[in-house]
Amino acid sequence: MERTSDIRIERGLLARAGEMIRAALPGSACAIISDDIVDGLYGDALESSLRSAGFSVSRTAFPHGEASKNIHTYFEVINFLAENRLTRKDAVIALGGGVVGDLAGFAAATYLRGVNLVQVPTSLLACVDSSVGGKTAIDIPAGKNLCGAFYQPDIVLIDPDALSTLPDEIFTDGMAEVIKYAAIADISILELCRDAHANIDAIIRRCVEIKKDVVARDERDNSIRQILNFGHTFGHAVEAISNFTVTHGKGVAIGMAIMARACAMRGLCSEEAAQELIVAIAAQGLPTSTEYDADALFTAMLSDKKRVPDGLNLVLLKGRGACEIRKTPLSEAKQMLKEGLQA
Ligand code: GLY
Repeated sequence: MERTSDIRIERGLLARAGEMIRAALPGSACAIISDDIVDGLYGDALESSLRSAGFSVSRTAFPHGEASKNIHTYFEVINFLAENRLTRKDAVIALGGGVVGDLAGFAAATYLRGVNLVQVPTSLLACVDSSVGGKTAIDIPAGKNLCGAFYQPDIVLIDPDALSTLPDEIFTDGMAEVIKYAAIADISILELCRDAHANIDAIIRRCVEIKKDVVARDERDNSIRQILNFGHTFGHAVEAISNFTVTHGKGVAIGMAIMARACAMRGLCSEEAAQELIVAIAAQGLPTSTEYDADALFTAMLSDKKRVPDGLNLVLLKGRGACEIRKTPLSEAKQMLKEGLQA
């Protein structure tokens, strides 16, 4: 049976998390899973809110960063849940950015064949994208996110105040996903992006609305959910070739710009629609081009999860706030990559 998430977006929510979780979930214990940085910033406040609401709380943090999103950390986390005797009625609370949400979410999906899950995202990327929609995963040597589950959180608590401690570079990285929502569904988001910090509550609210709507129509990523991949196919290739020294947000920014240029060149969208997007990406201080060539990017693209037997499902720009998923033969995808790389 599908689970649906209760998503709340409010300032100061982190300190009130205990009472909200108590009202919504049955258990008496919670396990907070975080990384060392976020745990240091918000772990005490969350734990004390949960204890005030009557929960017994266990808490663990692993080293921050994508390198921790592996089978070893996953094993440590589920073992931690078992040692603390969490039952199916209890809850795993994922406190952090995308890495924490993915890994703790996968632990919640698999420990005891599934326990309650609360996502408390603390990065912009996690607020607008990864905490919503139930994708959980860890990385394996063969590739990123290749082992995981669709597992909807029971509750997502988004406290925009938590973004105040985010380094500028990580905030900017999340803005790439925000621009993605503008491109696929609502170009008026670009207006809000002109002063993103001042408008961040409205930005998060609109992006989450769009994501919820898409996921409700295709939870398992078989059709329309793939629209959320705009810029990601080319972007993942850039990330992979750079050995992940290019961050996800920068990769997606470059991927969106390449795709926008290619679509304009083919007459699939207007030159104005493509330029509007490229200008918006650059205005956030995100890159719109790469030094990597089409051959190298194409080779990296061949291991994309969205690959289908004789092609790739590419998300094409059709106009302002409008994209389309199109199954594209590999030779054409490579040609588009070449076109999009031309400045
Ligand atoms: N981040 C893309 C998705 O959730 O489908």
